[in-house]
Parts: sequence; C-alpha cells; structure tokens
Amino acid sequence: MDNLLLILFLTAAASFFSTLILYLRSSSPSSSRSRRRSFTSQSHSHGHGQLPLGTLGWPIVGESLEFISCALTDRPESFMDKRRCMYGKVFKSHIFGTPTIVSTDAEVSKFVLQSDAKAFVPFYPKSLTELMGKSSILLINGGLQRRIHGLIGSFFKSADLKAQITRDMEKYIHKSMENWMQDQPIYIQDESKNIAFQVLVKALINLDPGEQMEILKKQFQEFISGLMSLPVNIPGSQLYRSLQAKKKMARLIQEIIQSKRDGGMSNINVPKDVIDVLMMNNASDQPLTDDLIADNMIDMMIPGEDSVPVLMTLAVKYLSDYPAALQQLTDENIKLKELKAQLGEPLAWSDYLSLPFTQNVITETLRMGNIIIGVMRKAMRDIEIKGYLIPKGWCFFAYFRSVHLDESNYDWPYQFNPWRWQDNKDISNSSFTPFGGGQRLCPGLDLARLEASIFLHHLVTQFRWVAEEDTVVNFPTVRMKRRMPIWVKKREDYKLT
Ligand code: HEM
Repeated sequence: MDNLLLILFLTAAASFFSTLILYLRSSSPSSSRSRRRSFTSQSHSHGHGQLPLGTLGWPIVGESLEFISCALTDRPESFMDKRRCMYGKVFKSHIFGTPTIVSTDAEVSKFVLQSDAKAFVPFYPKSLTELMGKSSILLINGGLQRRIHGLIGSFFKSADLKAQITRDMEKYIHKSMENWMQDQPIYIQDESKNIAFQVLVKALINLDPGEQMEILKKQFQEFISGLMSLPVNIPGSQLYRSLQAKKKMARLIQEIIQSKRDGGMSNINVPKDVIDVLMMNNASDQPLTDDLIADNMIDMMIPGEDSVPVLMTLAVKYLSDYPAALQQLTDENIKLKELKAQLGEPLAWSDYLSLPFTQNVITETLRMGNIIIGVMRKAMRDIEIKGYLIPKGWCFFAYFRSVHLDESNYDWPYQFNPWRWQDNKDISNSSFTPFGGGQRLCPGLDLARLEASIFLHHLVTQFRWVAEEDTVVNFPTVRMKRRMPIWVKKREDYKLT
C-alpha cells in the first residue's frame, strides 16, 4: 500500500507541470477564447459544452488519496457516489496523476468508447506503457489495431477454437480436481488461475503444460509485477526486471514462430493458435513482424490472465453466499450431464453454453463483480458530449462499476440475482459493459464465458462444498482476500442413470 501511494505520488509529481499548464490554460482569458474556438470547430455538436462540475482537489495529488481510500473499502464506488450527488453523473476530478473527467453515465461512456483514435486513445500509467511497448494491441490505434483486433476476435469466436478450448479445459480441470482432498481447503483462486493460464497459453501459442510452460509462467509473474511499479528503468528496479522477463518470453515465442516457419506455414489451413492467425494474415501488404507478433502474445496475456480466474472465483463466492442460485445451477448442470451420459455423447462447447441459468449466473457475476472497474482514454482534442466538454489532453475514465450498481438500472443492485436476466434481458446494452465496448470491445469475451461455464459445470456436478469466510478486495485489482478457500466433498447423491 505504501508502495502504491508512493507510485501515485510520483506519477502525480511527474504530471504536475502538465497539469499546471492545463490550469493556466483554463484560467487565462485568451486560452478560454481559443478553447471556445477550438471547441466550436472541433466538437461533435455545435452547442456550448461546459467543463463538468467537480474539483481538481489538492495540488499535485488531486483527489487521488480519497479515491484510493474508497477503493480499499468494500464500496469503492463511494468516491463516485458522493460526487454524483454533488455534481451529477459526469464530473471532473484529478486522479491517476492527471486531470480526469469521470463518467458514470452509460450513454456518455458509450459515445467515448465508440469514438476513433482522432478523438480518444487508450490511457495507461507510464510503467504499463513502458512494459507493453509501442506496438502492443492495447496501445496501437487506427487500421493496425482494427486489423489485429478483428483477426483475434474472429479466431476466439470460431467453432474450431471453442472445441479445442473445451477439450483442453476438461483435461486441465480433470487434472486439477483429481488432486482435491476432502481434508484440506481448496483455494479456488489458485486452482482457477492455474487452469486459465494453461488454456490461455494454449490458445495464444499452442504450448502444452510442461517445462516450457513453467518457465513462461515464472517469467510472466516477474513481468506483471512491473505493471504497478515505479516507471524507473535502471538495473535492479522492478521495471528493469520485468522488461528482462519480457525479453526472455519474447525469445521463447520467437523460437515457436521460427519452428512454425521451418515446418512450412503454407500447409496450415485452420489456425491452431493466435500466432497462426497473425502469421497467416501476412500476405497483406503490411506484414506483421515477428517482433510485433511475439510482443503482442505477451501483452494479450495481461488482460486474459487474471480476469477469467477472477470471474470463476467470484462465481464460486456468490454461489456460496446464495444457496438458491447454487441449487438451480447444480440441477441444470446435473440434468445436462445425465442427458449426455444417456446419449453416450461427450459434452460439446455448445452444450456448456446452452444452459440458460448458468449463463445468467455468469452474467450476474460479471455485473456484480466488476472485474474491470472501468477503462481510461485520453482526449486528443476538445470534445463535447451531451453538453459536457472534455478538454484535449485530459483523461476520460468510464467507470462501469457505478453503472452496474446503479439502482435506476438494476433493482436491488447489491443482491446477487441471476434471475434478473432470465426474461432475455438485453445484455448488449450500454448499462452492461463488463467487456468494454466499441472499437476495443474485449475480443476474449466468448472465451471467458466458455471457460467459466466449463469450470462451473465440473465443480457443481462433482462436488459439494462449504466455503470459508472470505471477502472481495477491489484494489488495485479485484481478488479474494484469502484466495477463496472451500472444503469439498465428492458428490454421491446424483447417480447417473
Ligand atoms: C472475465 C474476463 C474478461 C474481462 C472482464 C475482460 C474485460 C475487458 C475490457 C473491459 C476490455 C476493454 C479495454 C479498453 O477498452 O480499454 C478488454 C480488452 C481486451 N481484452 Fe479482455 N476481458 C476478459 C478476458 C479476456 C481474455 C480471456 C482475453 C484473451 C486473450 C482478453 C483479451 C483482451 C484484449 C486483447 C483486449 C484489448 C482489445 C483492444 O484494445 O483492441 N480478455 N477486456
């Protein structure tokens, strides 16, 4: 925590001068004139947008300390709630070391997410951008981003990949669950993390569990330790160690690319992993270099590695707390298992996704859990949306958590209620955005849902459990304080016919 505050403080200090310039800009009459000029000429509408209400807080640190102290509680949105009452759903603040427009308004956020790179580009802390490199999918814009995003998205949606993921998941889950003992706690967060990492690496670079996978896992842990580090790249610093780890991983992936080349890519008709997808697309006039492919495999592990296990873990947490939901989920999955056993068929990916209540449990977990609390952008020019002015250079923070927990969108928003989704309530509306939206909508969303469905199926059809007391921590990332320990008992009551 101390470490984090220090990072925030230094980030804030680094951006102090740019902030000062922005303050001066907004207070000098000539600059406000030029703002108005640029606003009318560059904004989307020709109204007179106003900077949203709010305060930039203290010099240098802005409102970061209050933001963090709220984030450390079980109601991180209390920071937003207070300001929503005072200023409305969109307000200005100073967090992340920069002046920020915070949006808890679904429509405003949707508009921003759908905008192109001429209006908004991704905004990440400096340590993160250093680690990702300039050609990372998370940072690039325009045609290249659309191209890579489209290729990955359609691969992750393909039936071939889903069939492969299903087989892999079943194998890894079986291997994990056969070691579960009744006389010791099982830490769901660790188990799901291990399974999801193996699935992700298999999908990205077609690597099976083994020595190389273990090396990759170790290097990846070193790599991500740098995501929250000071942006100082000197030997001995965390950022330096993380970049070294990234280099080692990139070397391993480049060897895989080379061996694919040596094996003759032209023989491949159906891509087996994301590397194949990107290499096969190289016929176009802008070939993707090996460096770009290798780096992006690693960068793609960042959003993919943690979020899926958190989804599985939170589902187990909520189900443990809401026995009626667990009972209905179990009944639905046992019924499917019995049916497939009668037919003598293995479960296909479409079977796992066909269970409506299971899907509702996953949807509700995504809504309540807010695994990604929101996304950040930087405004490339003055922009007006719904009468709000977002000045050039400011950060825009689309805070999904407040929208997902807003009682005007969801009755009793703090209750885990999978039944709320059962009348085919639209999950593709702007009040439900766990996977973001627009240009950068998460390409891994189908994969995440499928993995969670398979995990829950095998858990509830094979085990009963009693969960130990545990709480959700929301900062800096969502996780369980005690790694979600449960005591399991093998099921004997549901006999298959
Ligand atoms: C429960 C699981 C997941 C959640 C909640 C989630 C959430 C998100 C969100 C909110 C974004 C948008 C970021 C932005 O707009 O700046 C995103 C982007 C992304 N996600 Fe996921 N994600 C999940 C799983 C995955 C998986 C399994 C992968 C697989 C590799 C993945 C890969 C990506 C990539 C590559 C992007 C960047 C897309 C781009 O900028 O073009 N995610 N994710």
